[in-house]
Amino acid sequence: MSTQNKIKELREKREQAKLGGGKKRIETQHKKGKLTARERLDLLLDSGTFREMDIFVTHRTSDFGMDEKKFPGDGVVTGYGRVDGRLVYVFSQDFTVFGGSLGEMFAEKVCKVMDLAMRNGAPFIGLNDSGGARIQEGVLSLGGYAEIFFRNVVASGVVPQISAIMGPCAGGAVYSPAMTDFTLMVKGTSHMFITGPEVIKAVTGEEVTFEQLGGAMSHNRRSGVAHFAAENEEHCIELIKTLLSYLPSNNLDDPPRMETGDDPNRMDDELPKMVPSESDKPYDMKDIILRVVDNGEFLEVHEHWAKNIVVGFARLDGYSIGIVGNQPKVLAGTLDIESSTKGARFVRFCDAFNIPLLTFVDVPGFLPGTAQEYGGIIRNGAKLLYAYCEATVPKMTVIIRKAYGGAYDVMCSKHIRADINFAWPSAELAVMGPSGAVNIVFKKEIQAAKDPEKKAEELVADYREKFANPYIAAQMGYIDDIIEPQETRPRLIDALETLLDKRETRPAKKHGNIPL
Ligand code: HXC
Repeated sequence: MSTQNKIKELREKREQAKLGGGKKRIETQHKKGKLTARERLDLLLDSGTFREMDIFVTHRTSDFGMDEKKFPGDGVVTGYGRVDGRLVYVFSQDFTVFGGSLGEMFAEKVCKVMDLAMRNGAPFIGLNDSGGARIQEGVLSLGGYAEIFFRNVVASGVVPQISAIMGPCAGGAVYSPAMTDFTLMVKGTSHMFITGPEVIKAVTGEEVTFEQLGGAMSHNRRSGVAHFAAENEEHCIELIKTLLSYLPSNNLDDPPRMETGDDPNRMDDELPKMVPSESDKPYDMKDIILRVVDNGEFLEVHEHWAKNIVVGFARLDGYSIGIVGNQPKVLAGTLDIESSTKGARFVRFCDAFNIPLLTFVDVPGFLPGTAQEYGGIIRNGAKLLYAYCEATVPKMTVIIRKAYGGAYDVMCSKHIRADINFAWPSAELAVMGPSGAVNIVFKKEIQAAKDPEKKAEELVADYREKFANPYIAAQMGYIDDIIEPQETRPRLIDALETLLDKRETRPAKKHGNIPL
């Protein structure tokens, strides 16, 4: 065969491979409202940058007549490309080939790009759409999954790992996304569960639909398994790109700095009006966040879950930062089991990837109750405390209003090594709120008074005057400065610039033991 013909043959084989399971199955995929594996990669990667690897790999199984059924690529498209000019490694499961199910060679392809991502310090992105373990390959599939799980863990904290769920994701297969840093789900077409509705019905008698059990909103709102809910596949890919824009390529890199055009010295005269004068009135912490950060752009993570804490990414003078804020609008901003877990995971991610942390505090304490105590608020609340103590990235804190009790310590106080602690004049730092404190300390005086209610009111007013303010903490140096709300942005940017070269080392150890 002449070289020209050999080249022609290569091109034909490549074109054939690109059809995956064939035109009919591609049509079926489209009819389900889903894009194909390759169409998804086209959307994700900068035009013309995708370099596919292992397009000619096929499985080695002959059982169940599999030797008659071979598709080049074996059900997963893998390789590398660029997102906004930055290198990323990718896999995209091809549902048109054996339902995107994972067998031995499929897993080897995924492992190859994971190894390259780690070695070359680039983010790793997985687009999932799969029937799970390839039944015909039996234990080889299970071994393949385990090889991926192991790499997810080795890569954790080394390169960012992002999982998009764009179809089914069931059984043990869910554990790879679960061990990556961020999971995105597409509303209506993606599902994650350990056991499906039929097995649940057989075992427990419980009846539940796919959507109720493992749909995008179930995992975004109820379980917290997913971090983002996308309206459709295009939106999901856009979210991945936006998320990447805040992240460094690896743990030895700094996050990219962007030119945002927002004046670092911009004052905001609306900020002083944000906090109601009555200290038990709610307000939206996100309103404050949006006014402080560059151009009001805030990528909220876990938007729908544990809403009493707000976490997400933004920029200050172009520098990527991770923001944690109590949300007075929900459960009065108390810390509970879920919000502590949510906050802790976010803080640890930022710390692993050199993203400075900015904490806005308005916390009346931990949520009381037997449900919380029996559910392990002590162990779970400790996660957030542990994560903040462990974090050595630049840490800046602004106390907006309440900072009471143990929650004051937890929310990135000076004592757990925040670098810069500011308070607004509206801040109240104390062991507990005025009425709680007065009822304990002056119980006998209140009972003995002619008018106990009036006496309690007087004592509360007195306590508020004396303790519910930032001045005592500022006298002790627990607060570096009490700032005027309108100058919050310039003061934070100024502080951040002093912290960019921060180096903090801790004693060497194998790893700590976060209370899981
Ligand atoms: C081999 C599979 C497959 C699988 C689907 N297919 N799942 N082939 N192994 N696990 C094939 C089908 O035979 C079919 O092939 C094609 O994929 C499309 O499947 P359909 O059923 O026609 O599609 P749909 O109606 O959309 O249903 C999708 C589905 C369903 C919900 C994913 O196929 C399904 O329930 N599959 C089994 C899921 C499962 O139980 N997997 C094991 C989970 S346990 P043709 O040739 O007709 O196109 C697990 C353990 C992992 O994964 C452990 C890790 C430690």
